[in-house]
Order: sequence, then structure tokens, then C-alpha cells
Amino acid sequence: MNLHRRSQLREQLRATAPRWMQLAQTHGTPLLVLEPQRVARRLRELQSALPGFEVHYAVKALSHPVVLSTVAICGAGFDVATRGEVDLLGRLGLPLHRSIHTNPIKKPADIDHAYAAGIRTFVVENVAEVQKFAGRPGDIDLLVRLAFGNPSAKSDLSSKFGVVPADAELLVKHVLTGGVGFAGFSFHVGSQSSSTEPFRRALQHTLDLTGHIEAALGVPTRTIDIGGGFPVSYREQEPPITEIGDIVDDVLGARRGEFRLLCEPGRFLAADCMTLLTTVVGTAERAGRTWHYLDDGLYGSYSNVMTEDVHAPILALTELTGQSEPTLQPVTLAGPTCDSADVIARDYPMPGLTVGDVLVSPLMGAYTAVTASRFNGIEATPIVMG
Ligand SMILES: Cc1ncc(COP(=O)(O)O)c(C=O)c1O
Repeated sequence: MNLHRRSQLREQLRATAPRWMQLAQTHGTPLLVLEPQRVARRLRELQSALPGFEVHYAVKALSHPVVLSTVAICGAGFDVATRGEVDLLGRLGLPLHRSIHTNPIKKPADIDHAYAAGIRTFVVENVAEVQKFAGRPGDIDLLVRLAFGNPSAKSDLSSKFGVVPADAELLVKHVLTGGVGFAGFSFHVGSQSSSTEPFRRALQHTLDLTGHIEAALGVPTRTIDIGGGFPVSYREQEPPITEIGDIVDDVLGARRGEFRLLCEPGRFLAADCMTLLTTVVGTAERAGRTWHYLDDGLYGSYSNVMTEDVHAPILALTELTGQSEPTLQPVTLAGPTCDSADVIARDYPMPGLTVGDVLVSPLMGAYTAVTASRFNGIEATPIVMG
């Protein structure tokens, strides 16, 4: 994290620091502080950058009921991928008819379950998946998931899912001959895409494909789903969502009105809404380096370090409350388990720390609590409202 980004974050977080100090004293640490109004703010930013798009929040990023209710209250829908996510929305009384099911590979029983819950839009990516829809109700809309590689994404989903555009026509033919409703195409450029060009490339290819499919098979494409992948500025500044909005405007141009347009943001809506508070529980000098051991780590809320190589900023609470610029020294920050892999950051600049100091990691909402484990008997980090 460069010094400019660090001082930018300090300025942004300074006003909230007293509240975090109070919450850490009241509840102890580790603690995740959830501020749902930040989800609403991100949603407004997204809606203004992508006007006319239906937003379907990817529940997998953070499935906390308060987050899901906030999304629904703000008028957006959901992107679900499993029976458990369908059931969760059902239990919370959230609008399943405003949801799409985007898991390209699923059990037939899960299709029936989602359909019975009110979901009508599903995704396929190969012939075996298309066959699962044969004989199912006629009001199902299928999206064919396209694969576009993206080396600038933290998690390039095209290696696991999607049909390459050259094979898409054959798959659409299978959809049509199977008597299933072909709605259009979806893609996902990969999670945390630090370049916006993959959005341009994927959308342009998809648009070209719609013309080809209409000419070759005589069917119009009604829906285009541009997926998720919108980046979040963690330790580095990433392109703003407006840049993606401009690309979408540019590529769609006058054809915008032809399509029902969907997106499936997860990280972009969820990352900003949780802040992690941890405490230094021990320090040591090891081979000439300073180590600080925290009460949360890679097997807990920092699971995103291990699962997706995503690194949230880490600051000392004293940095946010003190008036002067602290002197920073590179340290190792380690988690609380007995596994040597449980190291959150190496050579990471921090001010002088002692046991009992509280650290703050903003942007810890997406793919953190949901992928945390209970390894070493450590309980899930509690979530409280900020
Ligand atoms: C099908 C699908 N849609 C949406 C998302 C959300 O992506 P992101 O959190 O990068 O916006 C994912 C993430 O894996 C996904 O697999």
C-alpha cells in the first residue's frame, strides 16, 4: 500500500475511529462492524453508472440478513447460486421473483426448488445443463454463459465456467431444439478485475454474437447480463465504476434499448460495508523481524487473503486518532492459529505496536466472513451494527 493511499484512508476513516474504539471496548475483538447504509450508497453509485440495468446482488459475497434486506429495500434483486441461498431469501421473506439463478452447473432438483420459489431466469453453459431443462415449465428463461479470459482479475472464472463464443451458436441451437426459452447471454469477467478493458471486450463480443445468432438461427437476444467483477480499491486505487459505465455506454450505443440489461455485483456492493477490528495479542522478534500476532487471521475474517489473494488495508487505530503522521516500520502480521501459513501480511508498514493495540481493516465485507472457517476451534468473528 503506497503512502498516498494510506493517508487517503486515514482521512476517510478518522471520523469513525472513536466509534470503533467504543465498539472494541464494549464487545471485545475480533469484531466485524457492519454499516448497511454503505451498501445502499454503493448501490446508488452503481445504478447511476449503469442506468437501466437491473441489479442482482450476488448473495455469496456476504449473506448477512441486514445486507440482503438493505438490497431489497433499495429495489434491487438477487443473484443466487445454491439451494441454501434460495432458502435464505425465502426465510427472510425477500423477493425471490426479483432473483436470478446463475450457477451454471446444478442438480435438476435444485432447478425445481428454485423454480418453486419463484425464480425464472437460469444460466447454462453446456449441453448436459441444457438437457436438464427439457420438459420443464415454458416460462423459464435461459441465459447462455460465455467465457472470456481475464488475467487482470483476482479470480478468473472463465477457467471453470462458460462456453467459448465460437461454440455458443451450437449451444443456443440445443436450447432451441430442446424447447426451452432462450433469453440471451451472460458473462462474468472475473472477480476484482483491475482493468476495465475486459468489460469492453466481453460486451463487444457478446453484442457481435447477438447479431450472428439472429442471422444464423433467426432468434433475437432479449437479455444481456454483464455479471459482476467490478473492482474495489483495497490497498491500491482501482478504476472507478463510472469508467465501466462509460465503456458500457460506448459499446451498447444506440442498441441499448434492444435488451433487458442485468448485472450481478457482489464485491462492489458488499466490500465497503464491514470493518474488522482486531487486537495485537502477542509480539516477537524473529530472525531480525518484528512479528505481531492478531486475534483474527487467514482461517477467519482474512480468508480472502488465502482464497482470492485479496488484501484489505490494515491500520492501527492510533493512526486514526493521533494528530501526527506516525513513523512506519515493516512488520509481519500473523493470525491466531497454530498454522505457519496463517500470516496476513509480510513486510507491511505499521507504526510501533504493543500488545493490546487495536488494528482496523476497512473494506472487509466481501468474501471474508462467508469463507471463514472454525479451524483450531476459533469461533466465527461476531458481527455488530456500526
Ligand atoms: C455467477 C457470478 N455472479 C456474480 C458474482 C459476483 O462477483 P463479484 O463479487 O466479483 O462482483 C460471482 C462471483 O463469483 C459469480 O460467480
